[in-house]
Amino acid sequence: MLVIYDRGRVFALDNRCPHMGFPLERGSVEDGILTCHWHHARFDLESGCTFDLWADDVPICPVEVRNGHVWVKTTFTQADPAAHWHQRLANGLAHDLGLAIAKAVHGQLTAGVPQAEIVRQVALFGAQNRDGWGVGLTILTALANLLPVLPEEEAYLALFHGARRVAADCDGAAPRRERAPLGSRPEPAALKRWLRRWTNVRHREAAERTLLTAIAAGFSPAELADALFAAATERAFADSGHSLDFINKAFECLDLVGWQHAAALLPTVVGQMVAARGAEESTAWRQPVDLVALCEESTSEVADLFTAGRGACDWSGHAALARELLGDNPVRIADALKEAIRAGAAPADLGQSLAYAAALRLARFGNANEHADWETAHHIFTYANADADGHCQHRHARHGCPRRLARRDGALPCSLSQCATGAHPGRRRRAAR
Ligand code: FES
Repeated sequence: MLVIYDRGRVFALDNRCPHMGFPLERGSVEDGILTCHWHHARFDLESGCTFDLWADDVPICPVEVRNGHVWVKTTFTQADPAAHWHQRLANGLAHDLGLAIAKAVHGQLTAGVPQAEIVRQVALFGAQNRDGWGVGLTILTALANLLPVLPEEEAYLALFHGARRVAADCDGAAPRRERAPLGSRPEPAALKRWLRRWTNVRHREAAERTLLTAIAAGFSPAELADALFAAATERAFADSGHSLDFINKAFECLDLVGWQHAAALLPTVVGQMVAARGAEESTAWRQPVDLVALCEESTSEVADLFTAGRGACDWSGHAALARELLGDNPVRIADALKEAIRAGAAPADLGQSLAYAAALRLARFGNANEHADWETAHHIFTYANADADGHCQHRHARHGCPRRLARRDGALPCSLSQCATGAHPGRRRRAAR
């Protein structure tokens, strides 16, 4: 503890500089300002508040002078530690202050704040302070998914790094502009149709209002997933797979923080979804084989094939199908898929086979490949993971959702072809090597 007499008044502060612990007694005081001599953070002597946000505030304690004796209450405890650290985390996130975030996350955990509550605070900050879902929110969600299996120390690190990445994403970014749902409550089928329509014509405001209306109308998570995945797959492999991946992560995030926050979180994926370029717009998907035409041709048969294959015995050819998917002949891949469906493979089985194939591809990817080639391979993997998760049984059971990606437009076949062949013939040859 540092007790300072300055111009007729007595102040008591924590003697450790909140930045990196330098003893403040070795600092100096001038004009009511205490300066730490290590990195020169400056503090208001009376309140302990810092003028340099990266250093954080110094805790102070009450002082009284009675009959010439100085009485100091020798604890720094806050009246409401959870509220104090909540506010400190808000501050750290707002100014992207790693140290403040680290201490606030630790303070909240020590104060008994549930991990999910910290994830919620950070996720909502990220949704409000950036104009769209970003990598930070994906990292936060991915790390939060791991919390139940992490030991205490690592859970703290996971929360810190998730929060830090969200703060970095929002630093200097334009905040999100709130939009309101429509005043009417159209039929669910109409809302789903409209969302696809606005995505098709890249009309962001219209798509957001439609989505907000669906949320306000009480769409279940399964219905929202159905509507968003339908819109996101209007274009094949949109935005290198990010669009589908981020939607999937937004759903995982809501599973973690509570679906009452759907109106705050879900619209963050719309901007990217409607602005995305699809694979059908790129030459790489048209030459040397027109993959999009192949996918369209195949997917027109898919619904009938699923109906025909339903009731077949349990299908377990995931590994064999994954091997087929890693071949380099798109026509054979499409045939292998159809064959698997006829043999009883459900959409979820295809998703799992694809995710496995994408993982194998990454595991076998040669070190000589260029960075951009790795990007292609990892985009396929994250896309395939989102695709598989979209079908996953636990969400199916939890929300009673239909197998939601099965319904249209080749989300699977497009990614399968891409997975097997790569986006570019040159890359394909290198990947094959
Ligand atoms: S330790 Fe005091 S400013 Fe860095």
